[in-house]
Amino acid sequence: MDVEKQKQKIKEACELCNGRNVVFGDGPLDASIMFIGEAPGSNEDKLGKPFVGRAGKFLDELLKTVNLNRGEVYISNIVKCRPPKNRDPTHEEINQFYPFLDLEIKEIKPKIIIPLGRHAAKTIFERYNLKFDGISSEHGKIYKVSTLFGEIKIAPMYHPAAAIYNPNLKEVLKEDLKNIIK
Ligand code: URA
Repeated sequence: MDVEKQKQKIKEACELCNGRNVVFGDGPLDASIMFIGEAPGSNEDKLGKPFVGRAGKFLDELLKTVNLNRGEVYISNIVKCRPPKNRDPTHEEINQFYPFLDLEIKEIKPKIIIPLGRHAAKTIFERYNLKFDGISSEHGKIYKVSTLFGEIKIAPMYHPAAAIYNPNLKEVLKEDLKNIIK
C-alpha cells in the first residue's frame, strides 16, 4: 500500500481535509489486530497520527493490560480528517472514506478487527452484514465473519474517550479487551 499516494487521493477527494492533515492508519502492515476509531481529533490532526491525544493515552494503557504495545497493532479510523469542532462524522463522510478503510483492511488482513465506539462499530457491522444493536449491547461480543482472506473476528468495544468522561467504563474496556485477546 502506497500510503502517500492514498493520502494524496484523499486530499483531492475530500472537503473535510481542506487545510487539515490526512491521518492514515499507523502500525505494522502484518499486524493481526486492527483497532478502528472514529476520526482524528485536534492532536491527531496536528501530529498526523491516530490516537495520540488523551483517548490514545488510555488506549496505550489498555494495550499494556494485555501485554501489547502500539508497535504490535494497527490503529486506524473510519474517517481520516478531523471533522470541524470535533462533531460526529456524517453518513456521507463515513461513506466517502470507506474505500480507504477497506483498502487498509485488505492490506493488513487482520485476524481481529476491534471497532472503537458506535460509529466505527456500526460501519464495520454494516460492511460485514452483521446486525448492529448499539454499542452498549454489542461491546465485548465477538463475531466471526468470512472475508476474501479467511475468517476474521469482529469484536467491538466502547471508544476509549468514553472512559475519560465516564471512568466506570475503564474497567469494562479492560475486561472486554482481555476477553477478546484470550
Ligand atoms: N478518537 C478517534 O476516534 N480517533 C483518533 O484518532 C483519536 C481520537
